[in-house]
Amino acid sequence: MSIILGIESSCDDTSAAIIRDGVLLSNVIASQSVHEAYGGVVPELASRAHQQNIVPVVSEAINRAGISKTDISAIAFTAGPGLIGSLLVGTQFAKGLSTALGIPLVCVNHLHGHVLAHFIKEDPSTEVPEFPYMCLLVSGGNSQIIIVDDYNRMRILGQTIDDAAGEAFDKCAKVMGLPYPGGPHIDRLAAEGDPLRFRFSKPHIPGFDYSFSGLKTSFLYTLRDAIAVEPDFIEKNKADLAASLQKTIIDILLDKLAKAVDAHPEIRQLAIGGGVSANSGVRAAVADFCAARGLRAFIPKRVFTTDNAAMVAIAGWFKYNDRQFCELDVAPFARVEV
Ligand code: KG4
Repeated sequence: MSIILGIESSCDDTSAAIIRDGVLLSNVIASQSVHEAYGGVVPELASRAHQQNIVPVVSEAINRAGISKTDISAIAFTAGPGLIGSLLVGTQFAKGLSTALGIPLVCVNHLHGHVLAHFIKEDPSTEVPEFPYMCLLVSGGNSQIIIVDDYNRMRILGQTIDDAAGEAFDKCAKVMGLPYPGGPHIDRLAAEGDPLRFRFSKPHIPGFDYSFSGLKTSFLYTLRDAIAVEPDFIEKNKADLAASLQKTIIDILLDKLAKAVDAHPEIRQLAIGGGVSANSGVRAAVADFCAARGLRAFIPKRVFTTDNAAMVAIAGWFKYNDRQFCELDVAPFARVEV
């Protein structure tokens, strides 16, 4: 039997989770509200909040799991990518606890965590993807199409050359005066709006890569010109703007996904992951896309789409099973690909 403690601190959520032989026993997430007033995550404030949260969050995860800390077999932590000050808090805590308990440390790539979130079992009967499968990873920092050959082997087919899909949601939401992070607000407003009311530019990038910076500019200029004529344009049209923006982002995501699926007929399963996979429109569109093409869809529970330690623990468990441990001189990294 192996029990893994997962620790996630890459951005503005402090999270700890316990899994036993791949089955989730607890997943505690402390989100930081301190950033709301600033319209985005303030790295220095994030690090300080992690520092305050990490001990109570880990204790709570251990208590909820009904285990003792001496039962833990290994500690898996997010080593990157993310905010370096935030990552340092989780990394140092993991090193300290592993030394005190005399157990191995496992470094986890945050993006692998998002991709492998489908393997989190809340009970032993949870159905999981079979290899190889394709994953659309859409978060605040990344937009990638990946083929997952094995737990620890992944190939990137395409990725964004500028902004991520989450940034497109958040930056356009900011233009509309919505709070940070704007993605969930756009999602909520879009449910009431007409997705065909406004048209925004879509990129023409070869291959399977994405681009979202042109959409952001097109959205900004549309609003700027409209406000010049009608000052309360945003307020009067916010649901239609949100729905049209969301539809454009989904169209861009699915257009490349269709090309990738066509180029890889051997792949019969499609998963989504990352914060943007919490979006109602994205979830429905991917489910329809898979149904139309006879693909099996894996859509994660919302709690496992945004940052959480359950995904770190499960990704860590697969590395633990391969005896892929790291040394105490390991340092976190801000940037990396899958
Ligand atoms: O995966 P995540 O928590 O952090 C990263 O690893 O980057 O993703 C955060 C992103 C933010 O851009 C946020 O606006 C977006 O996920 N997001 C959403 C929704 N929920 C979170 N975007 C659209 N609709 C949502 N419901």
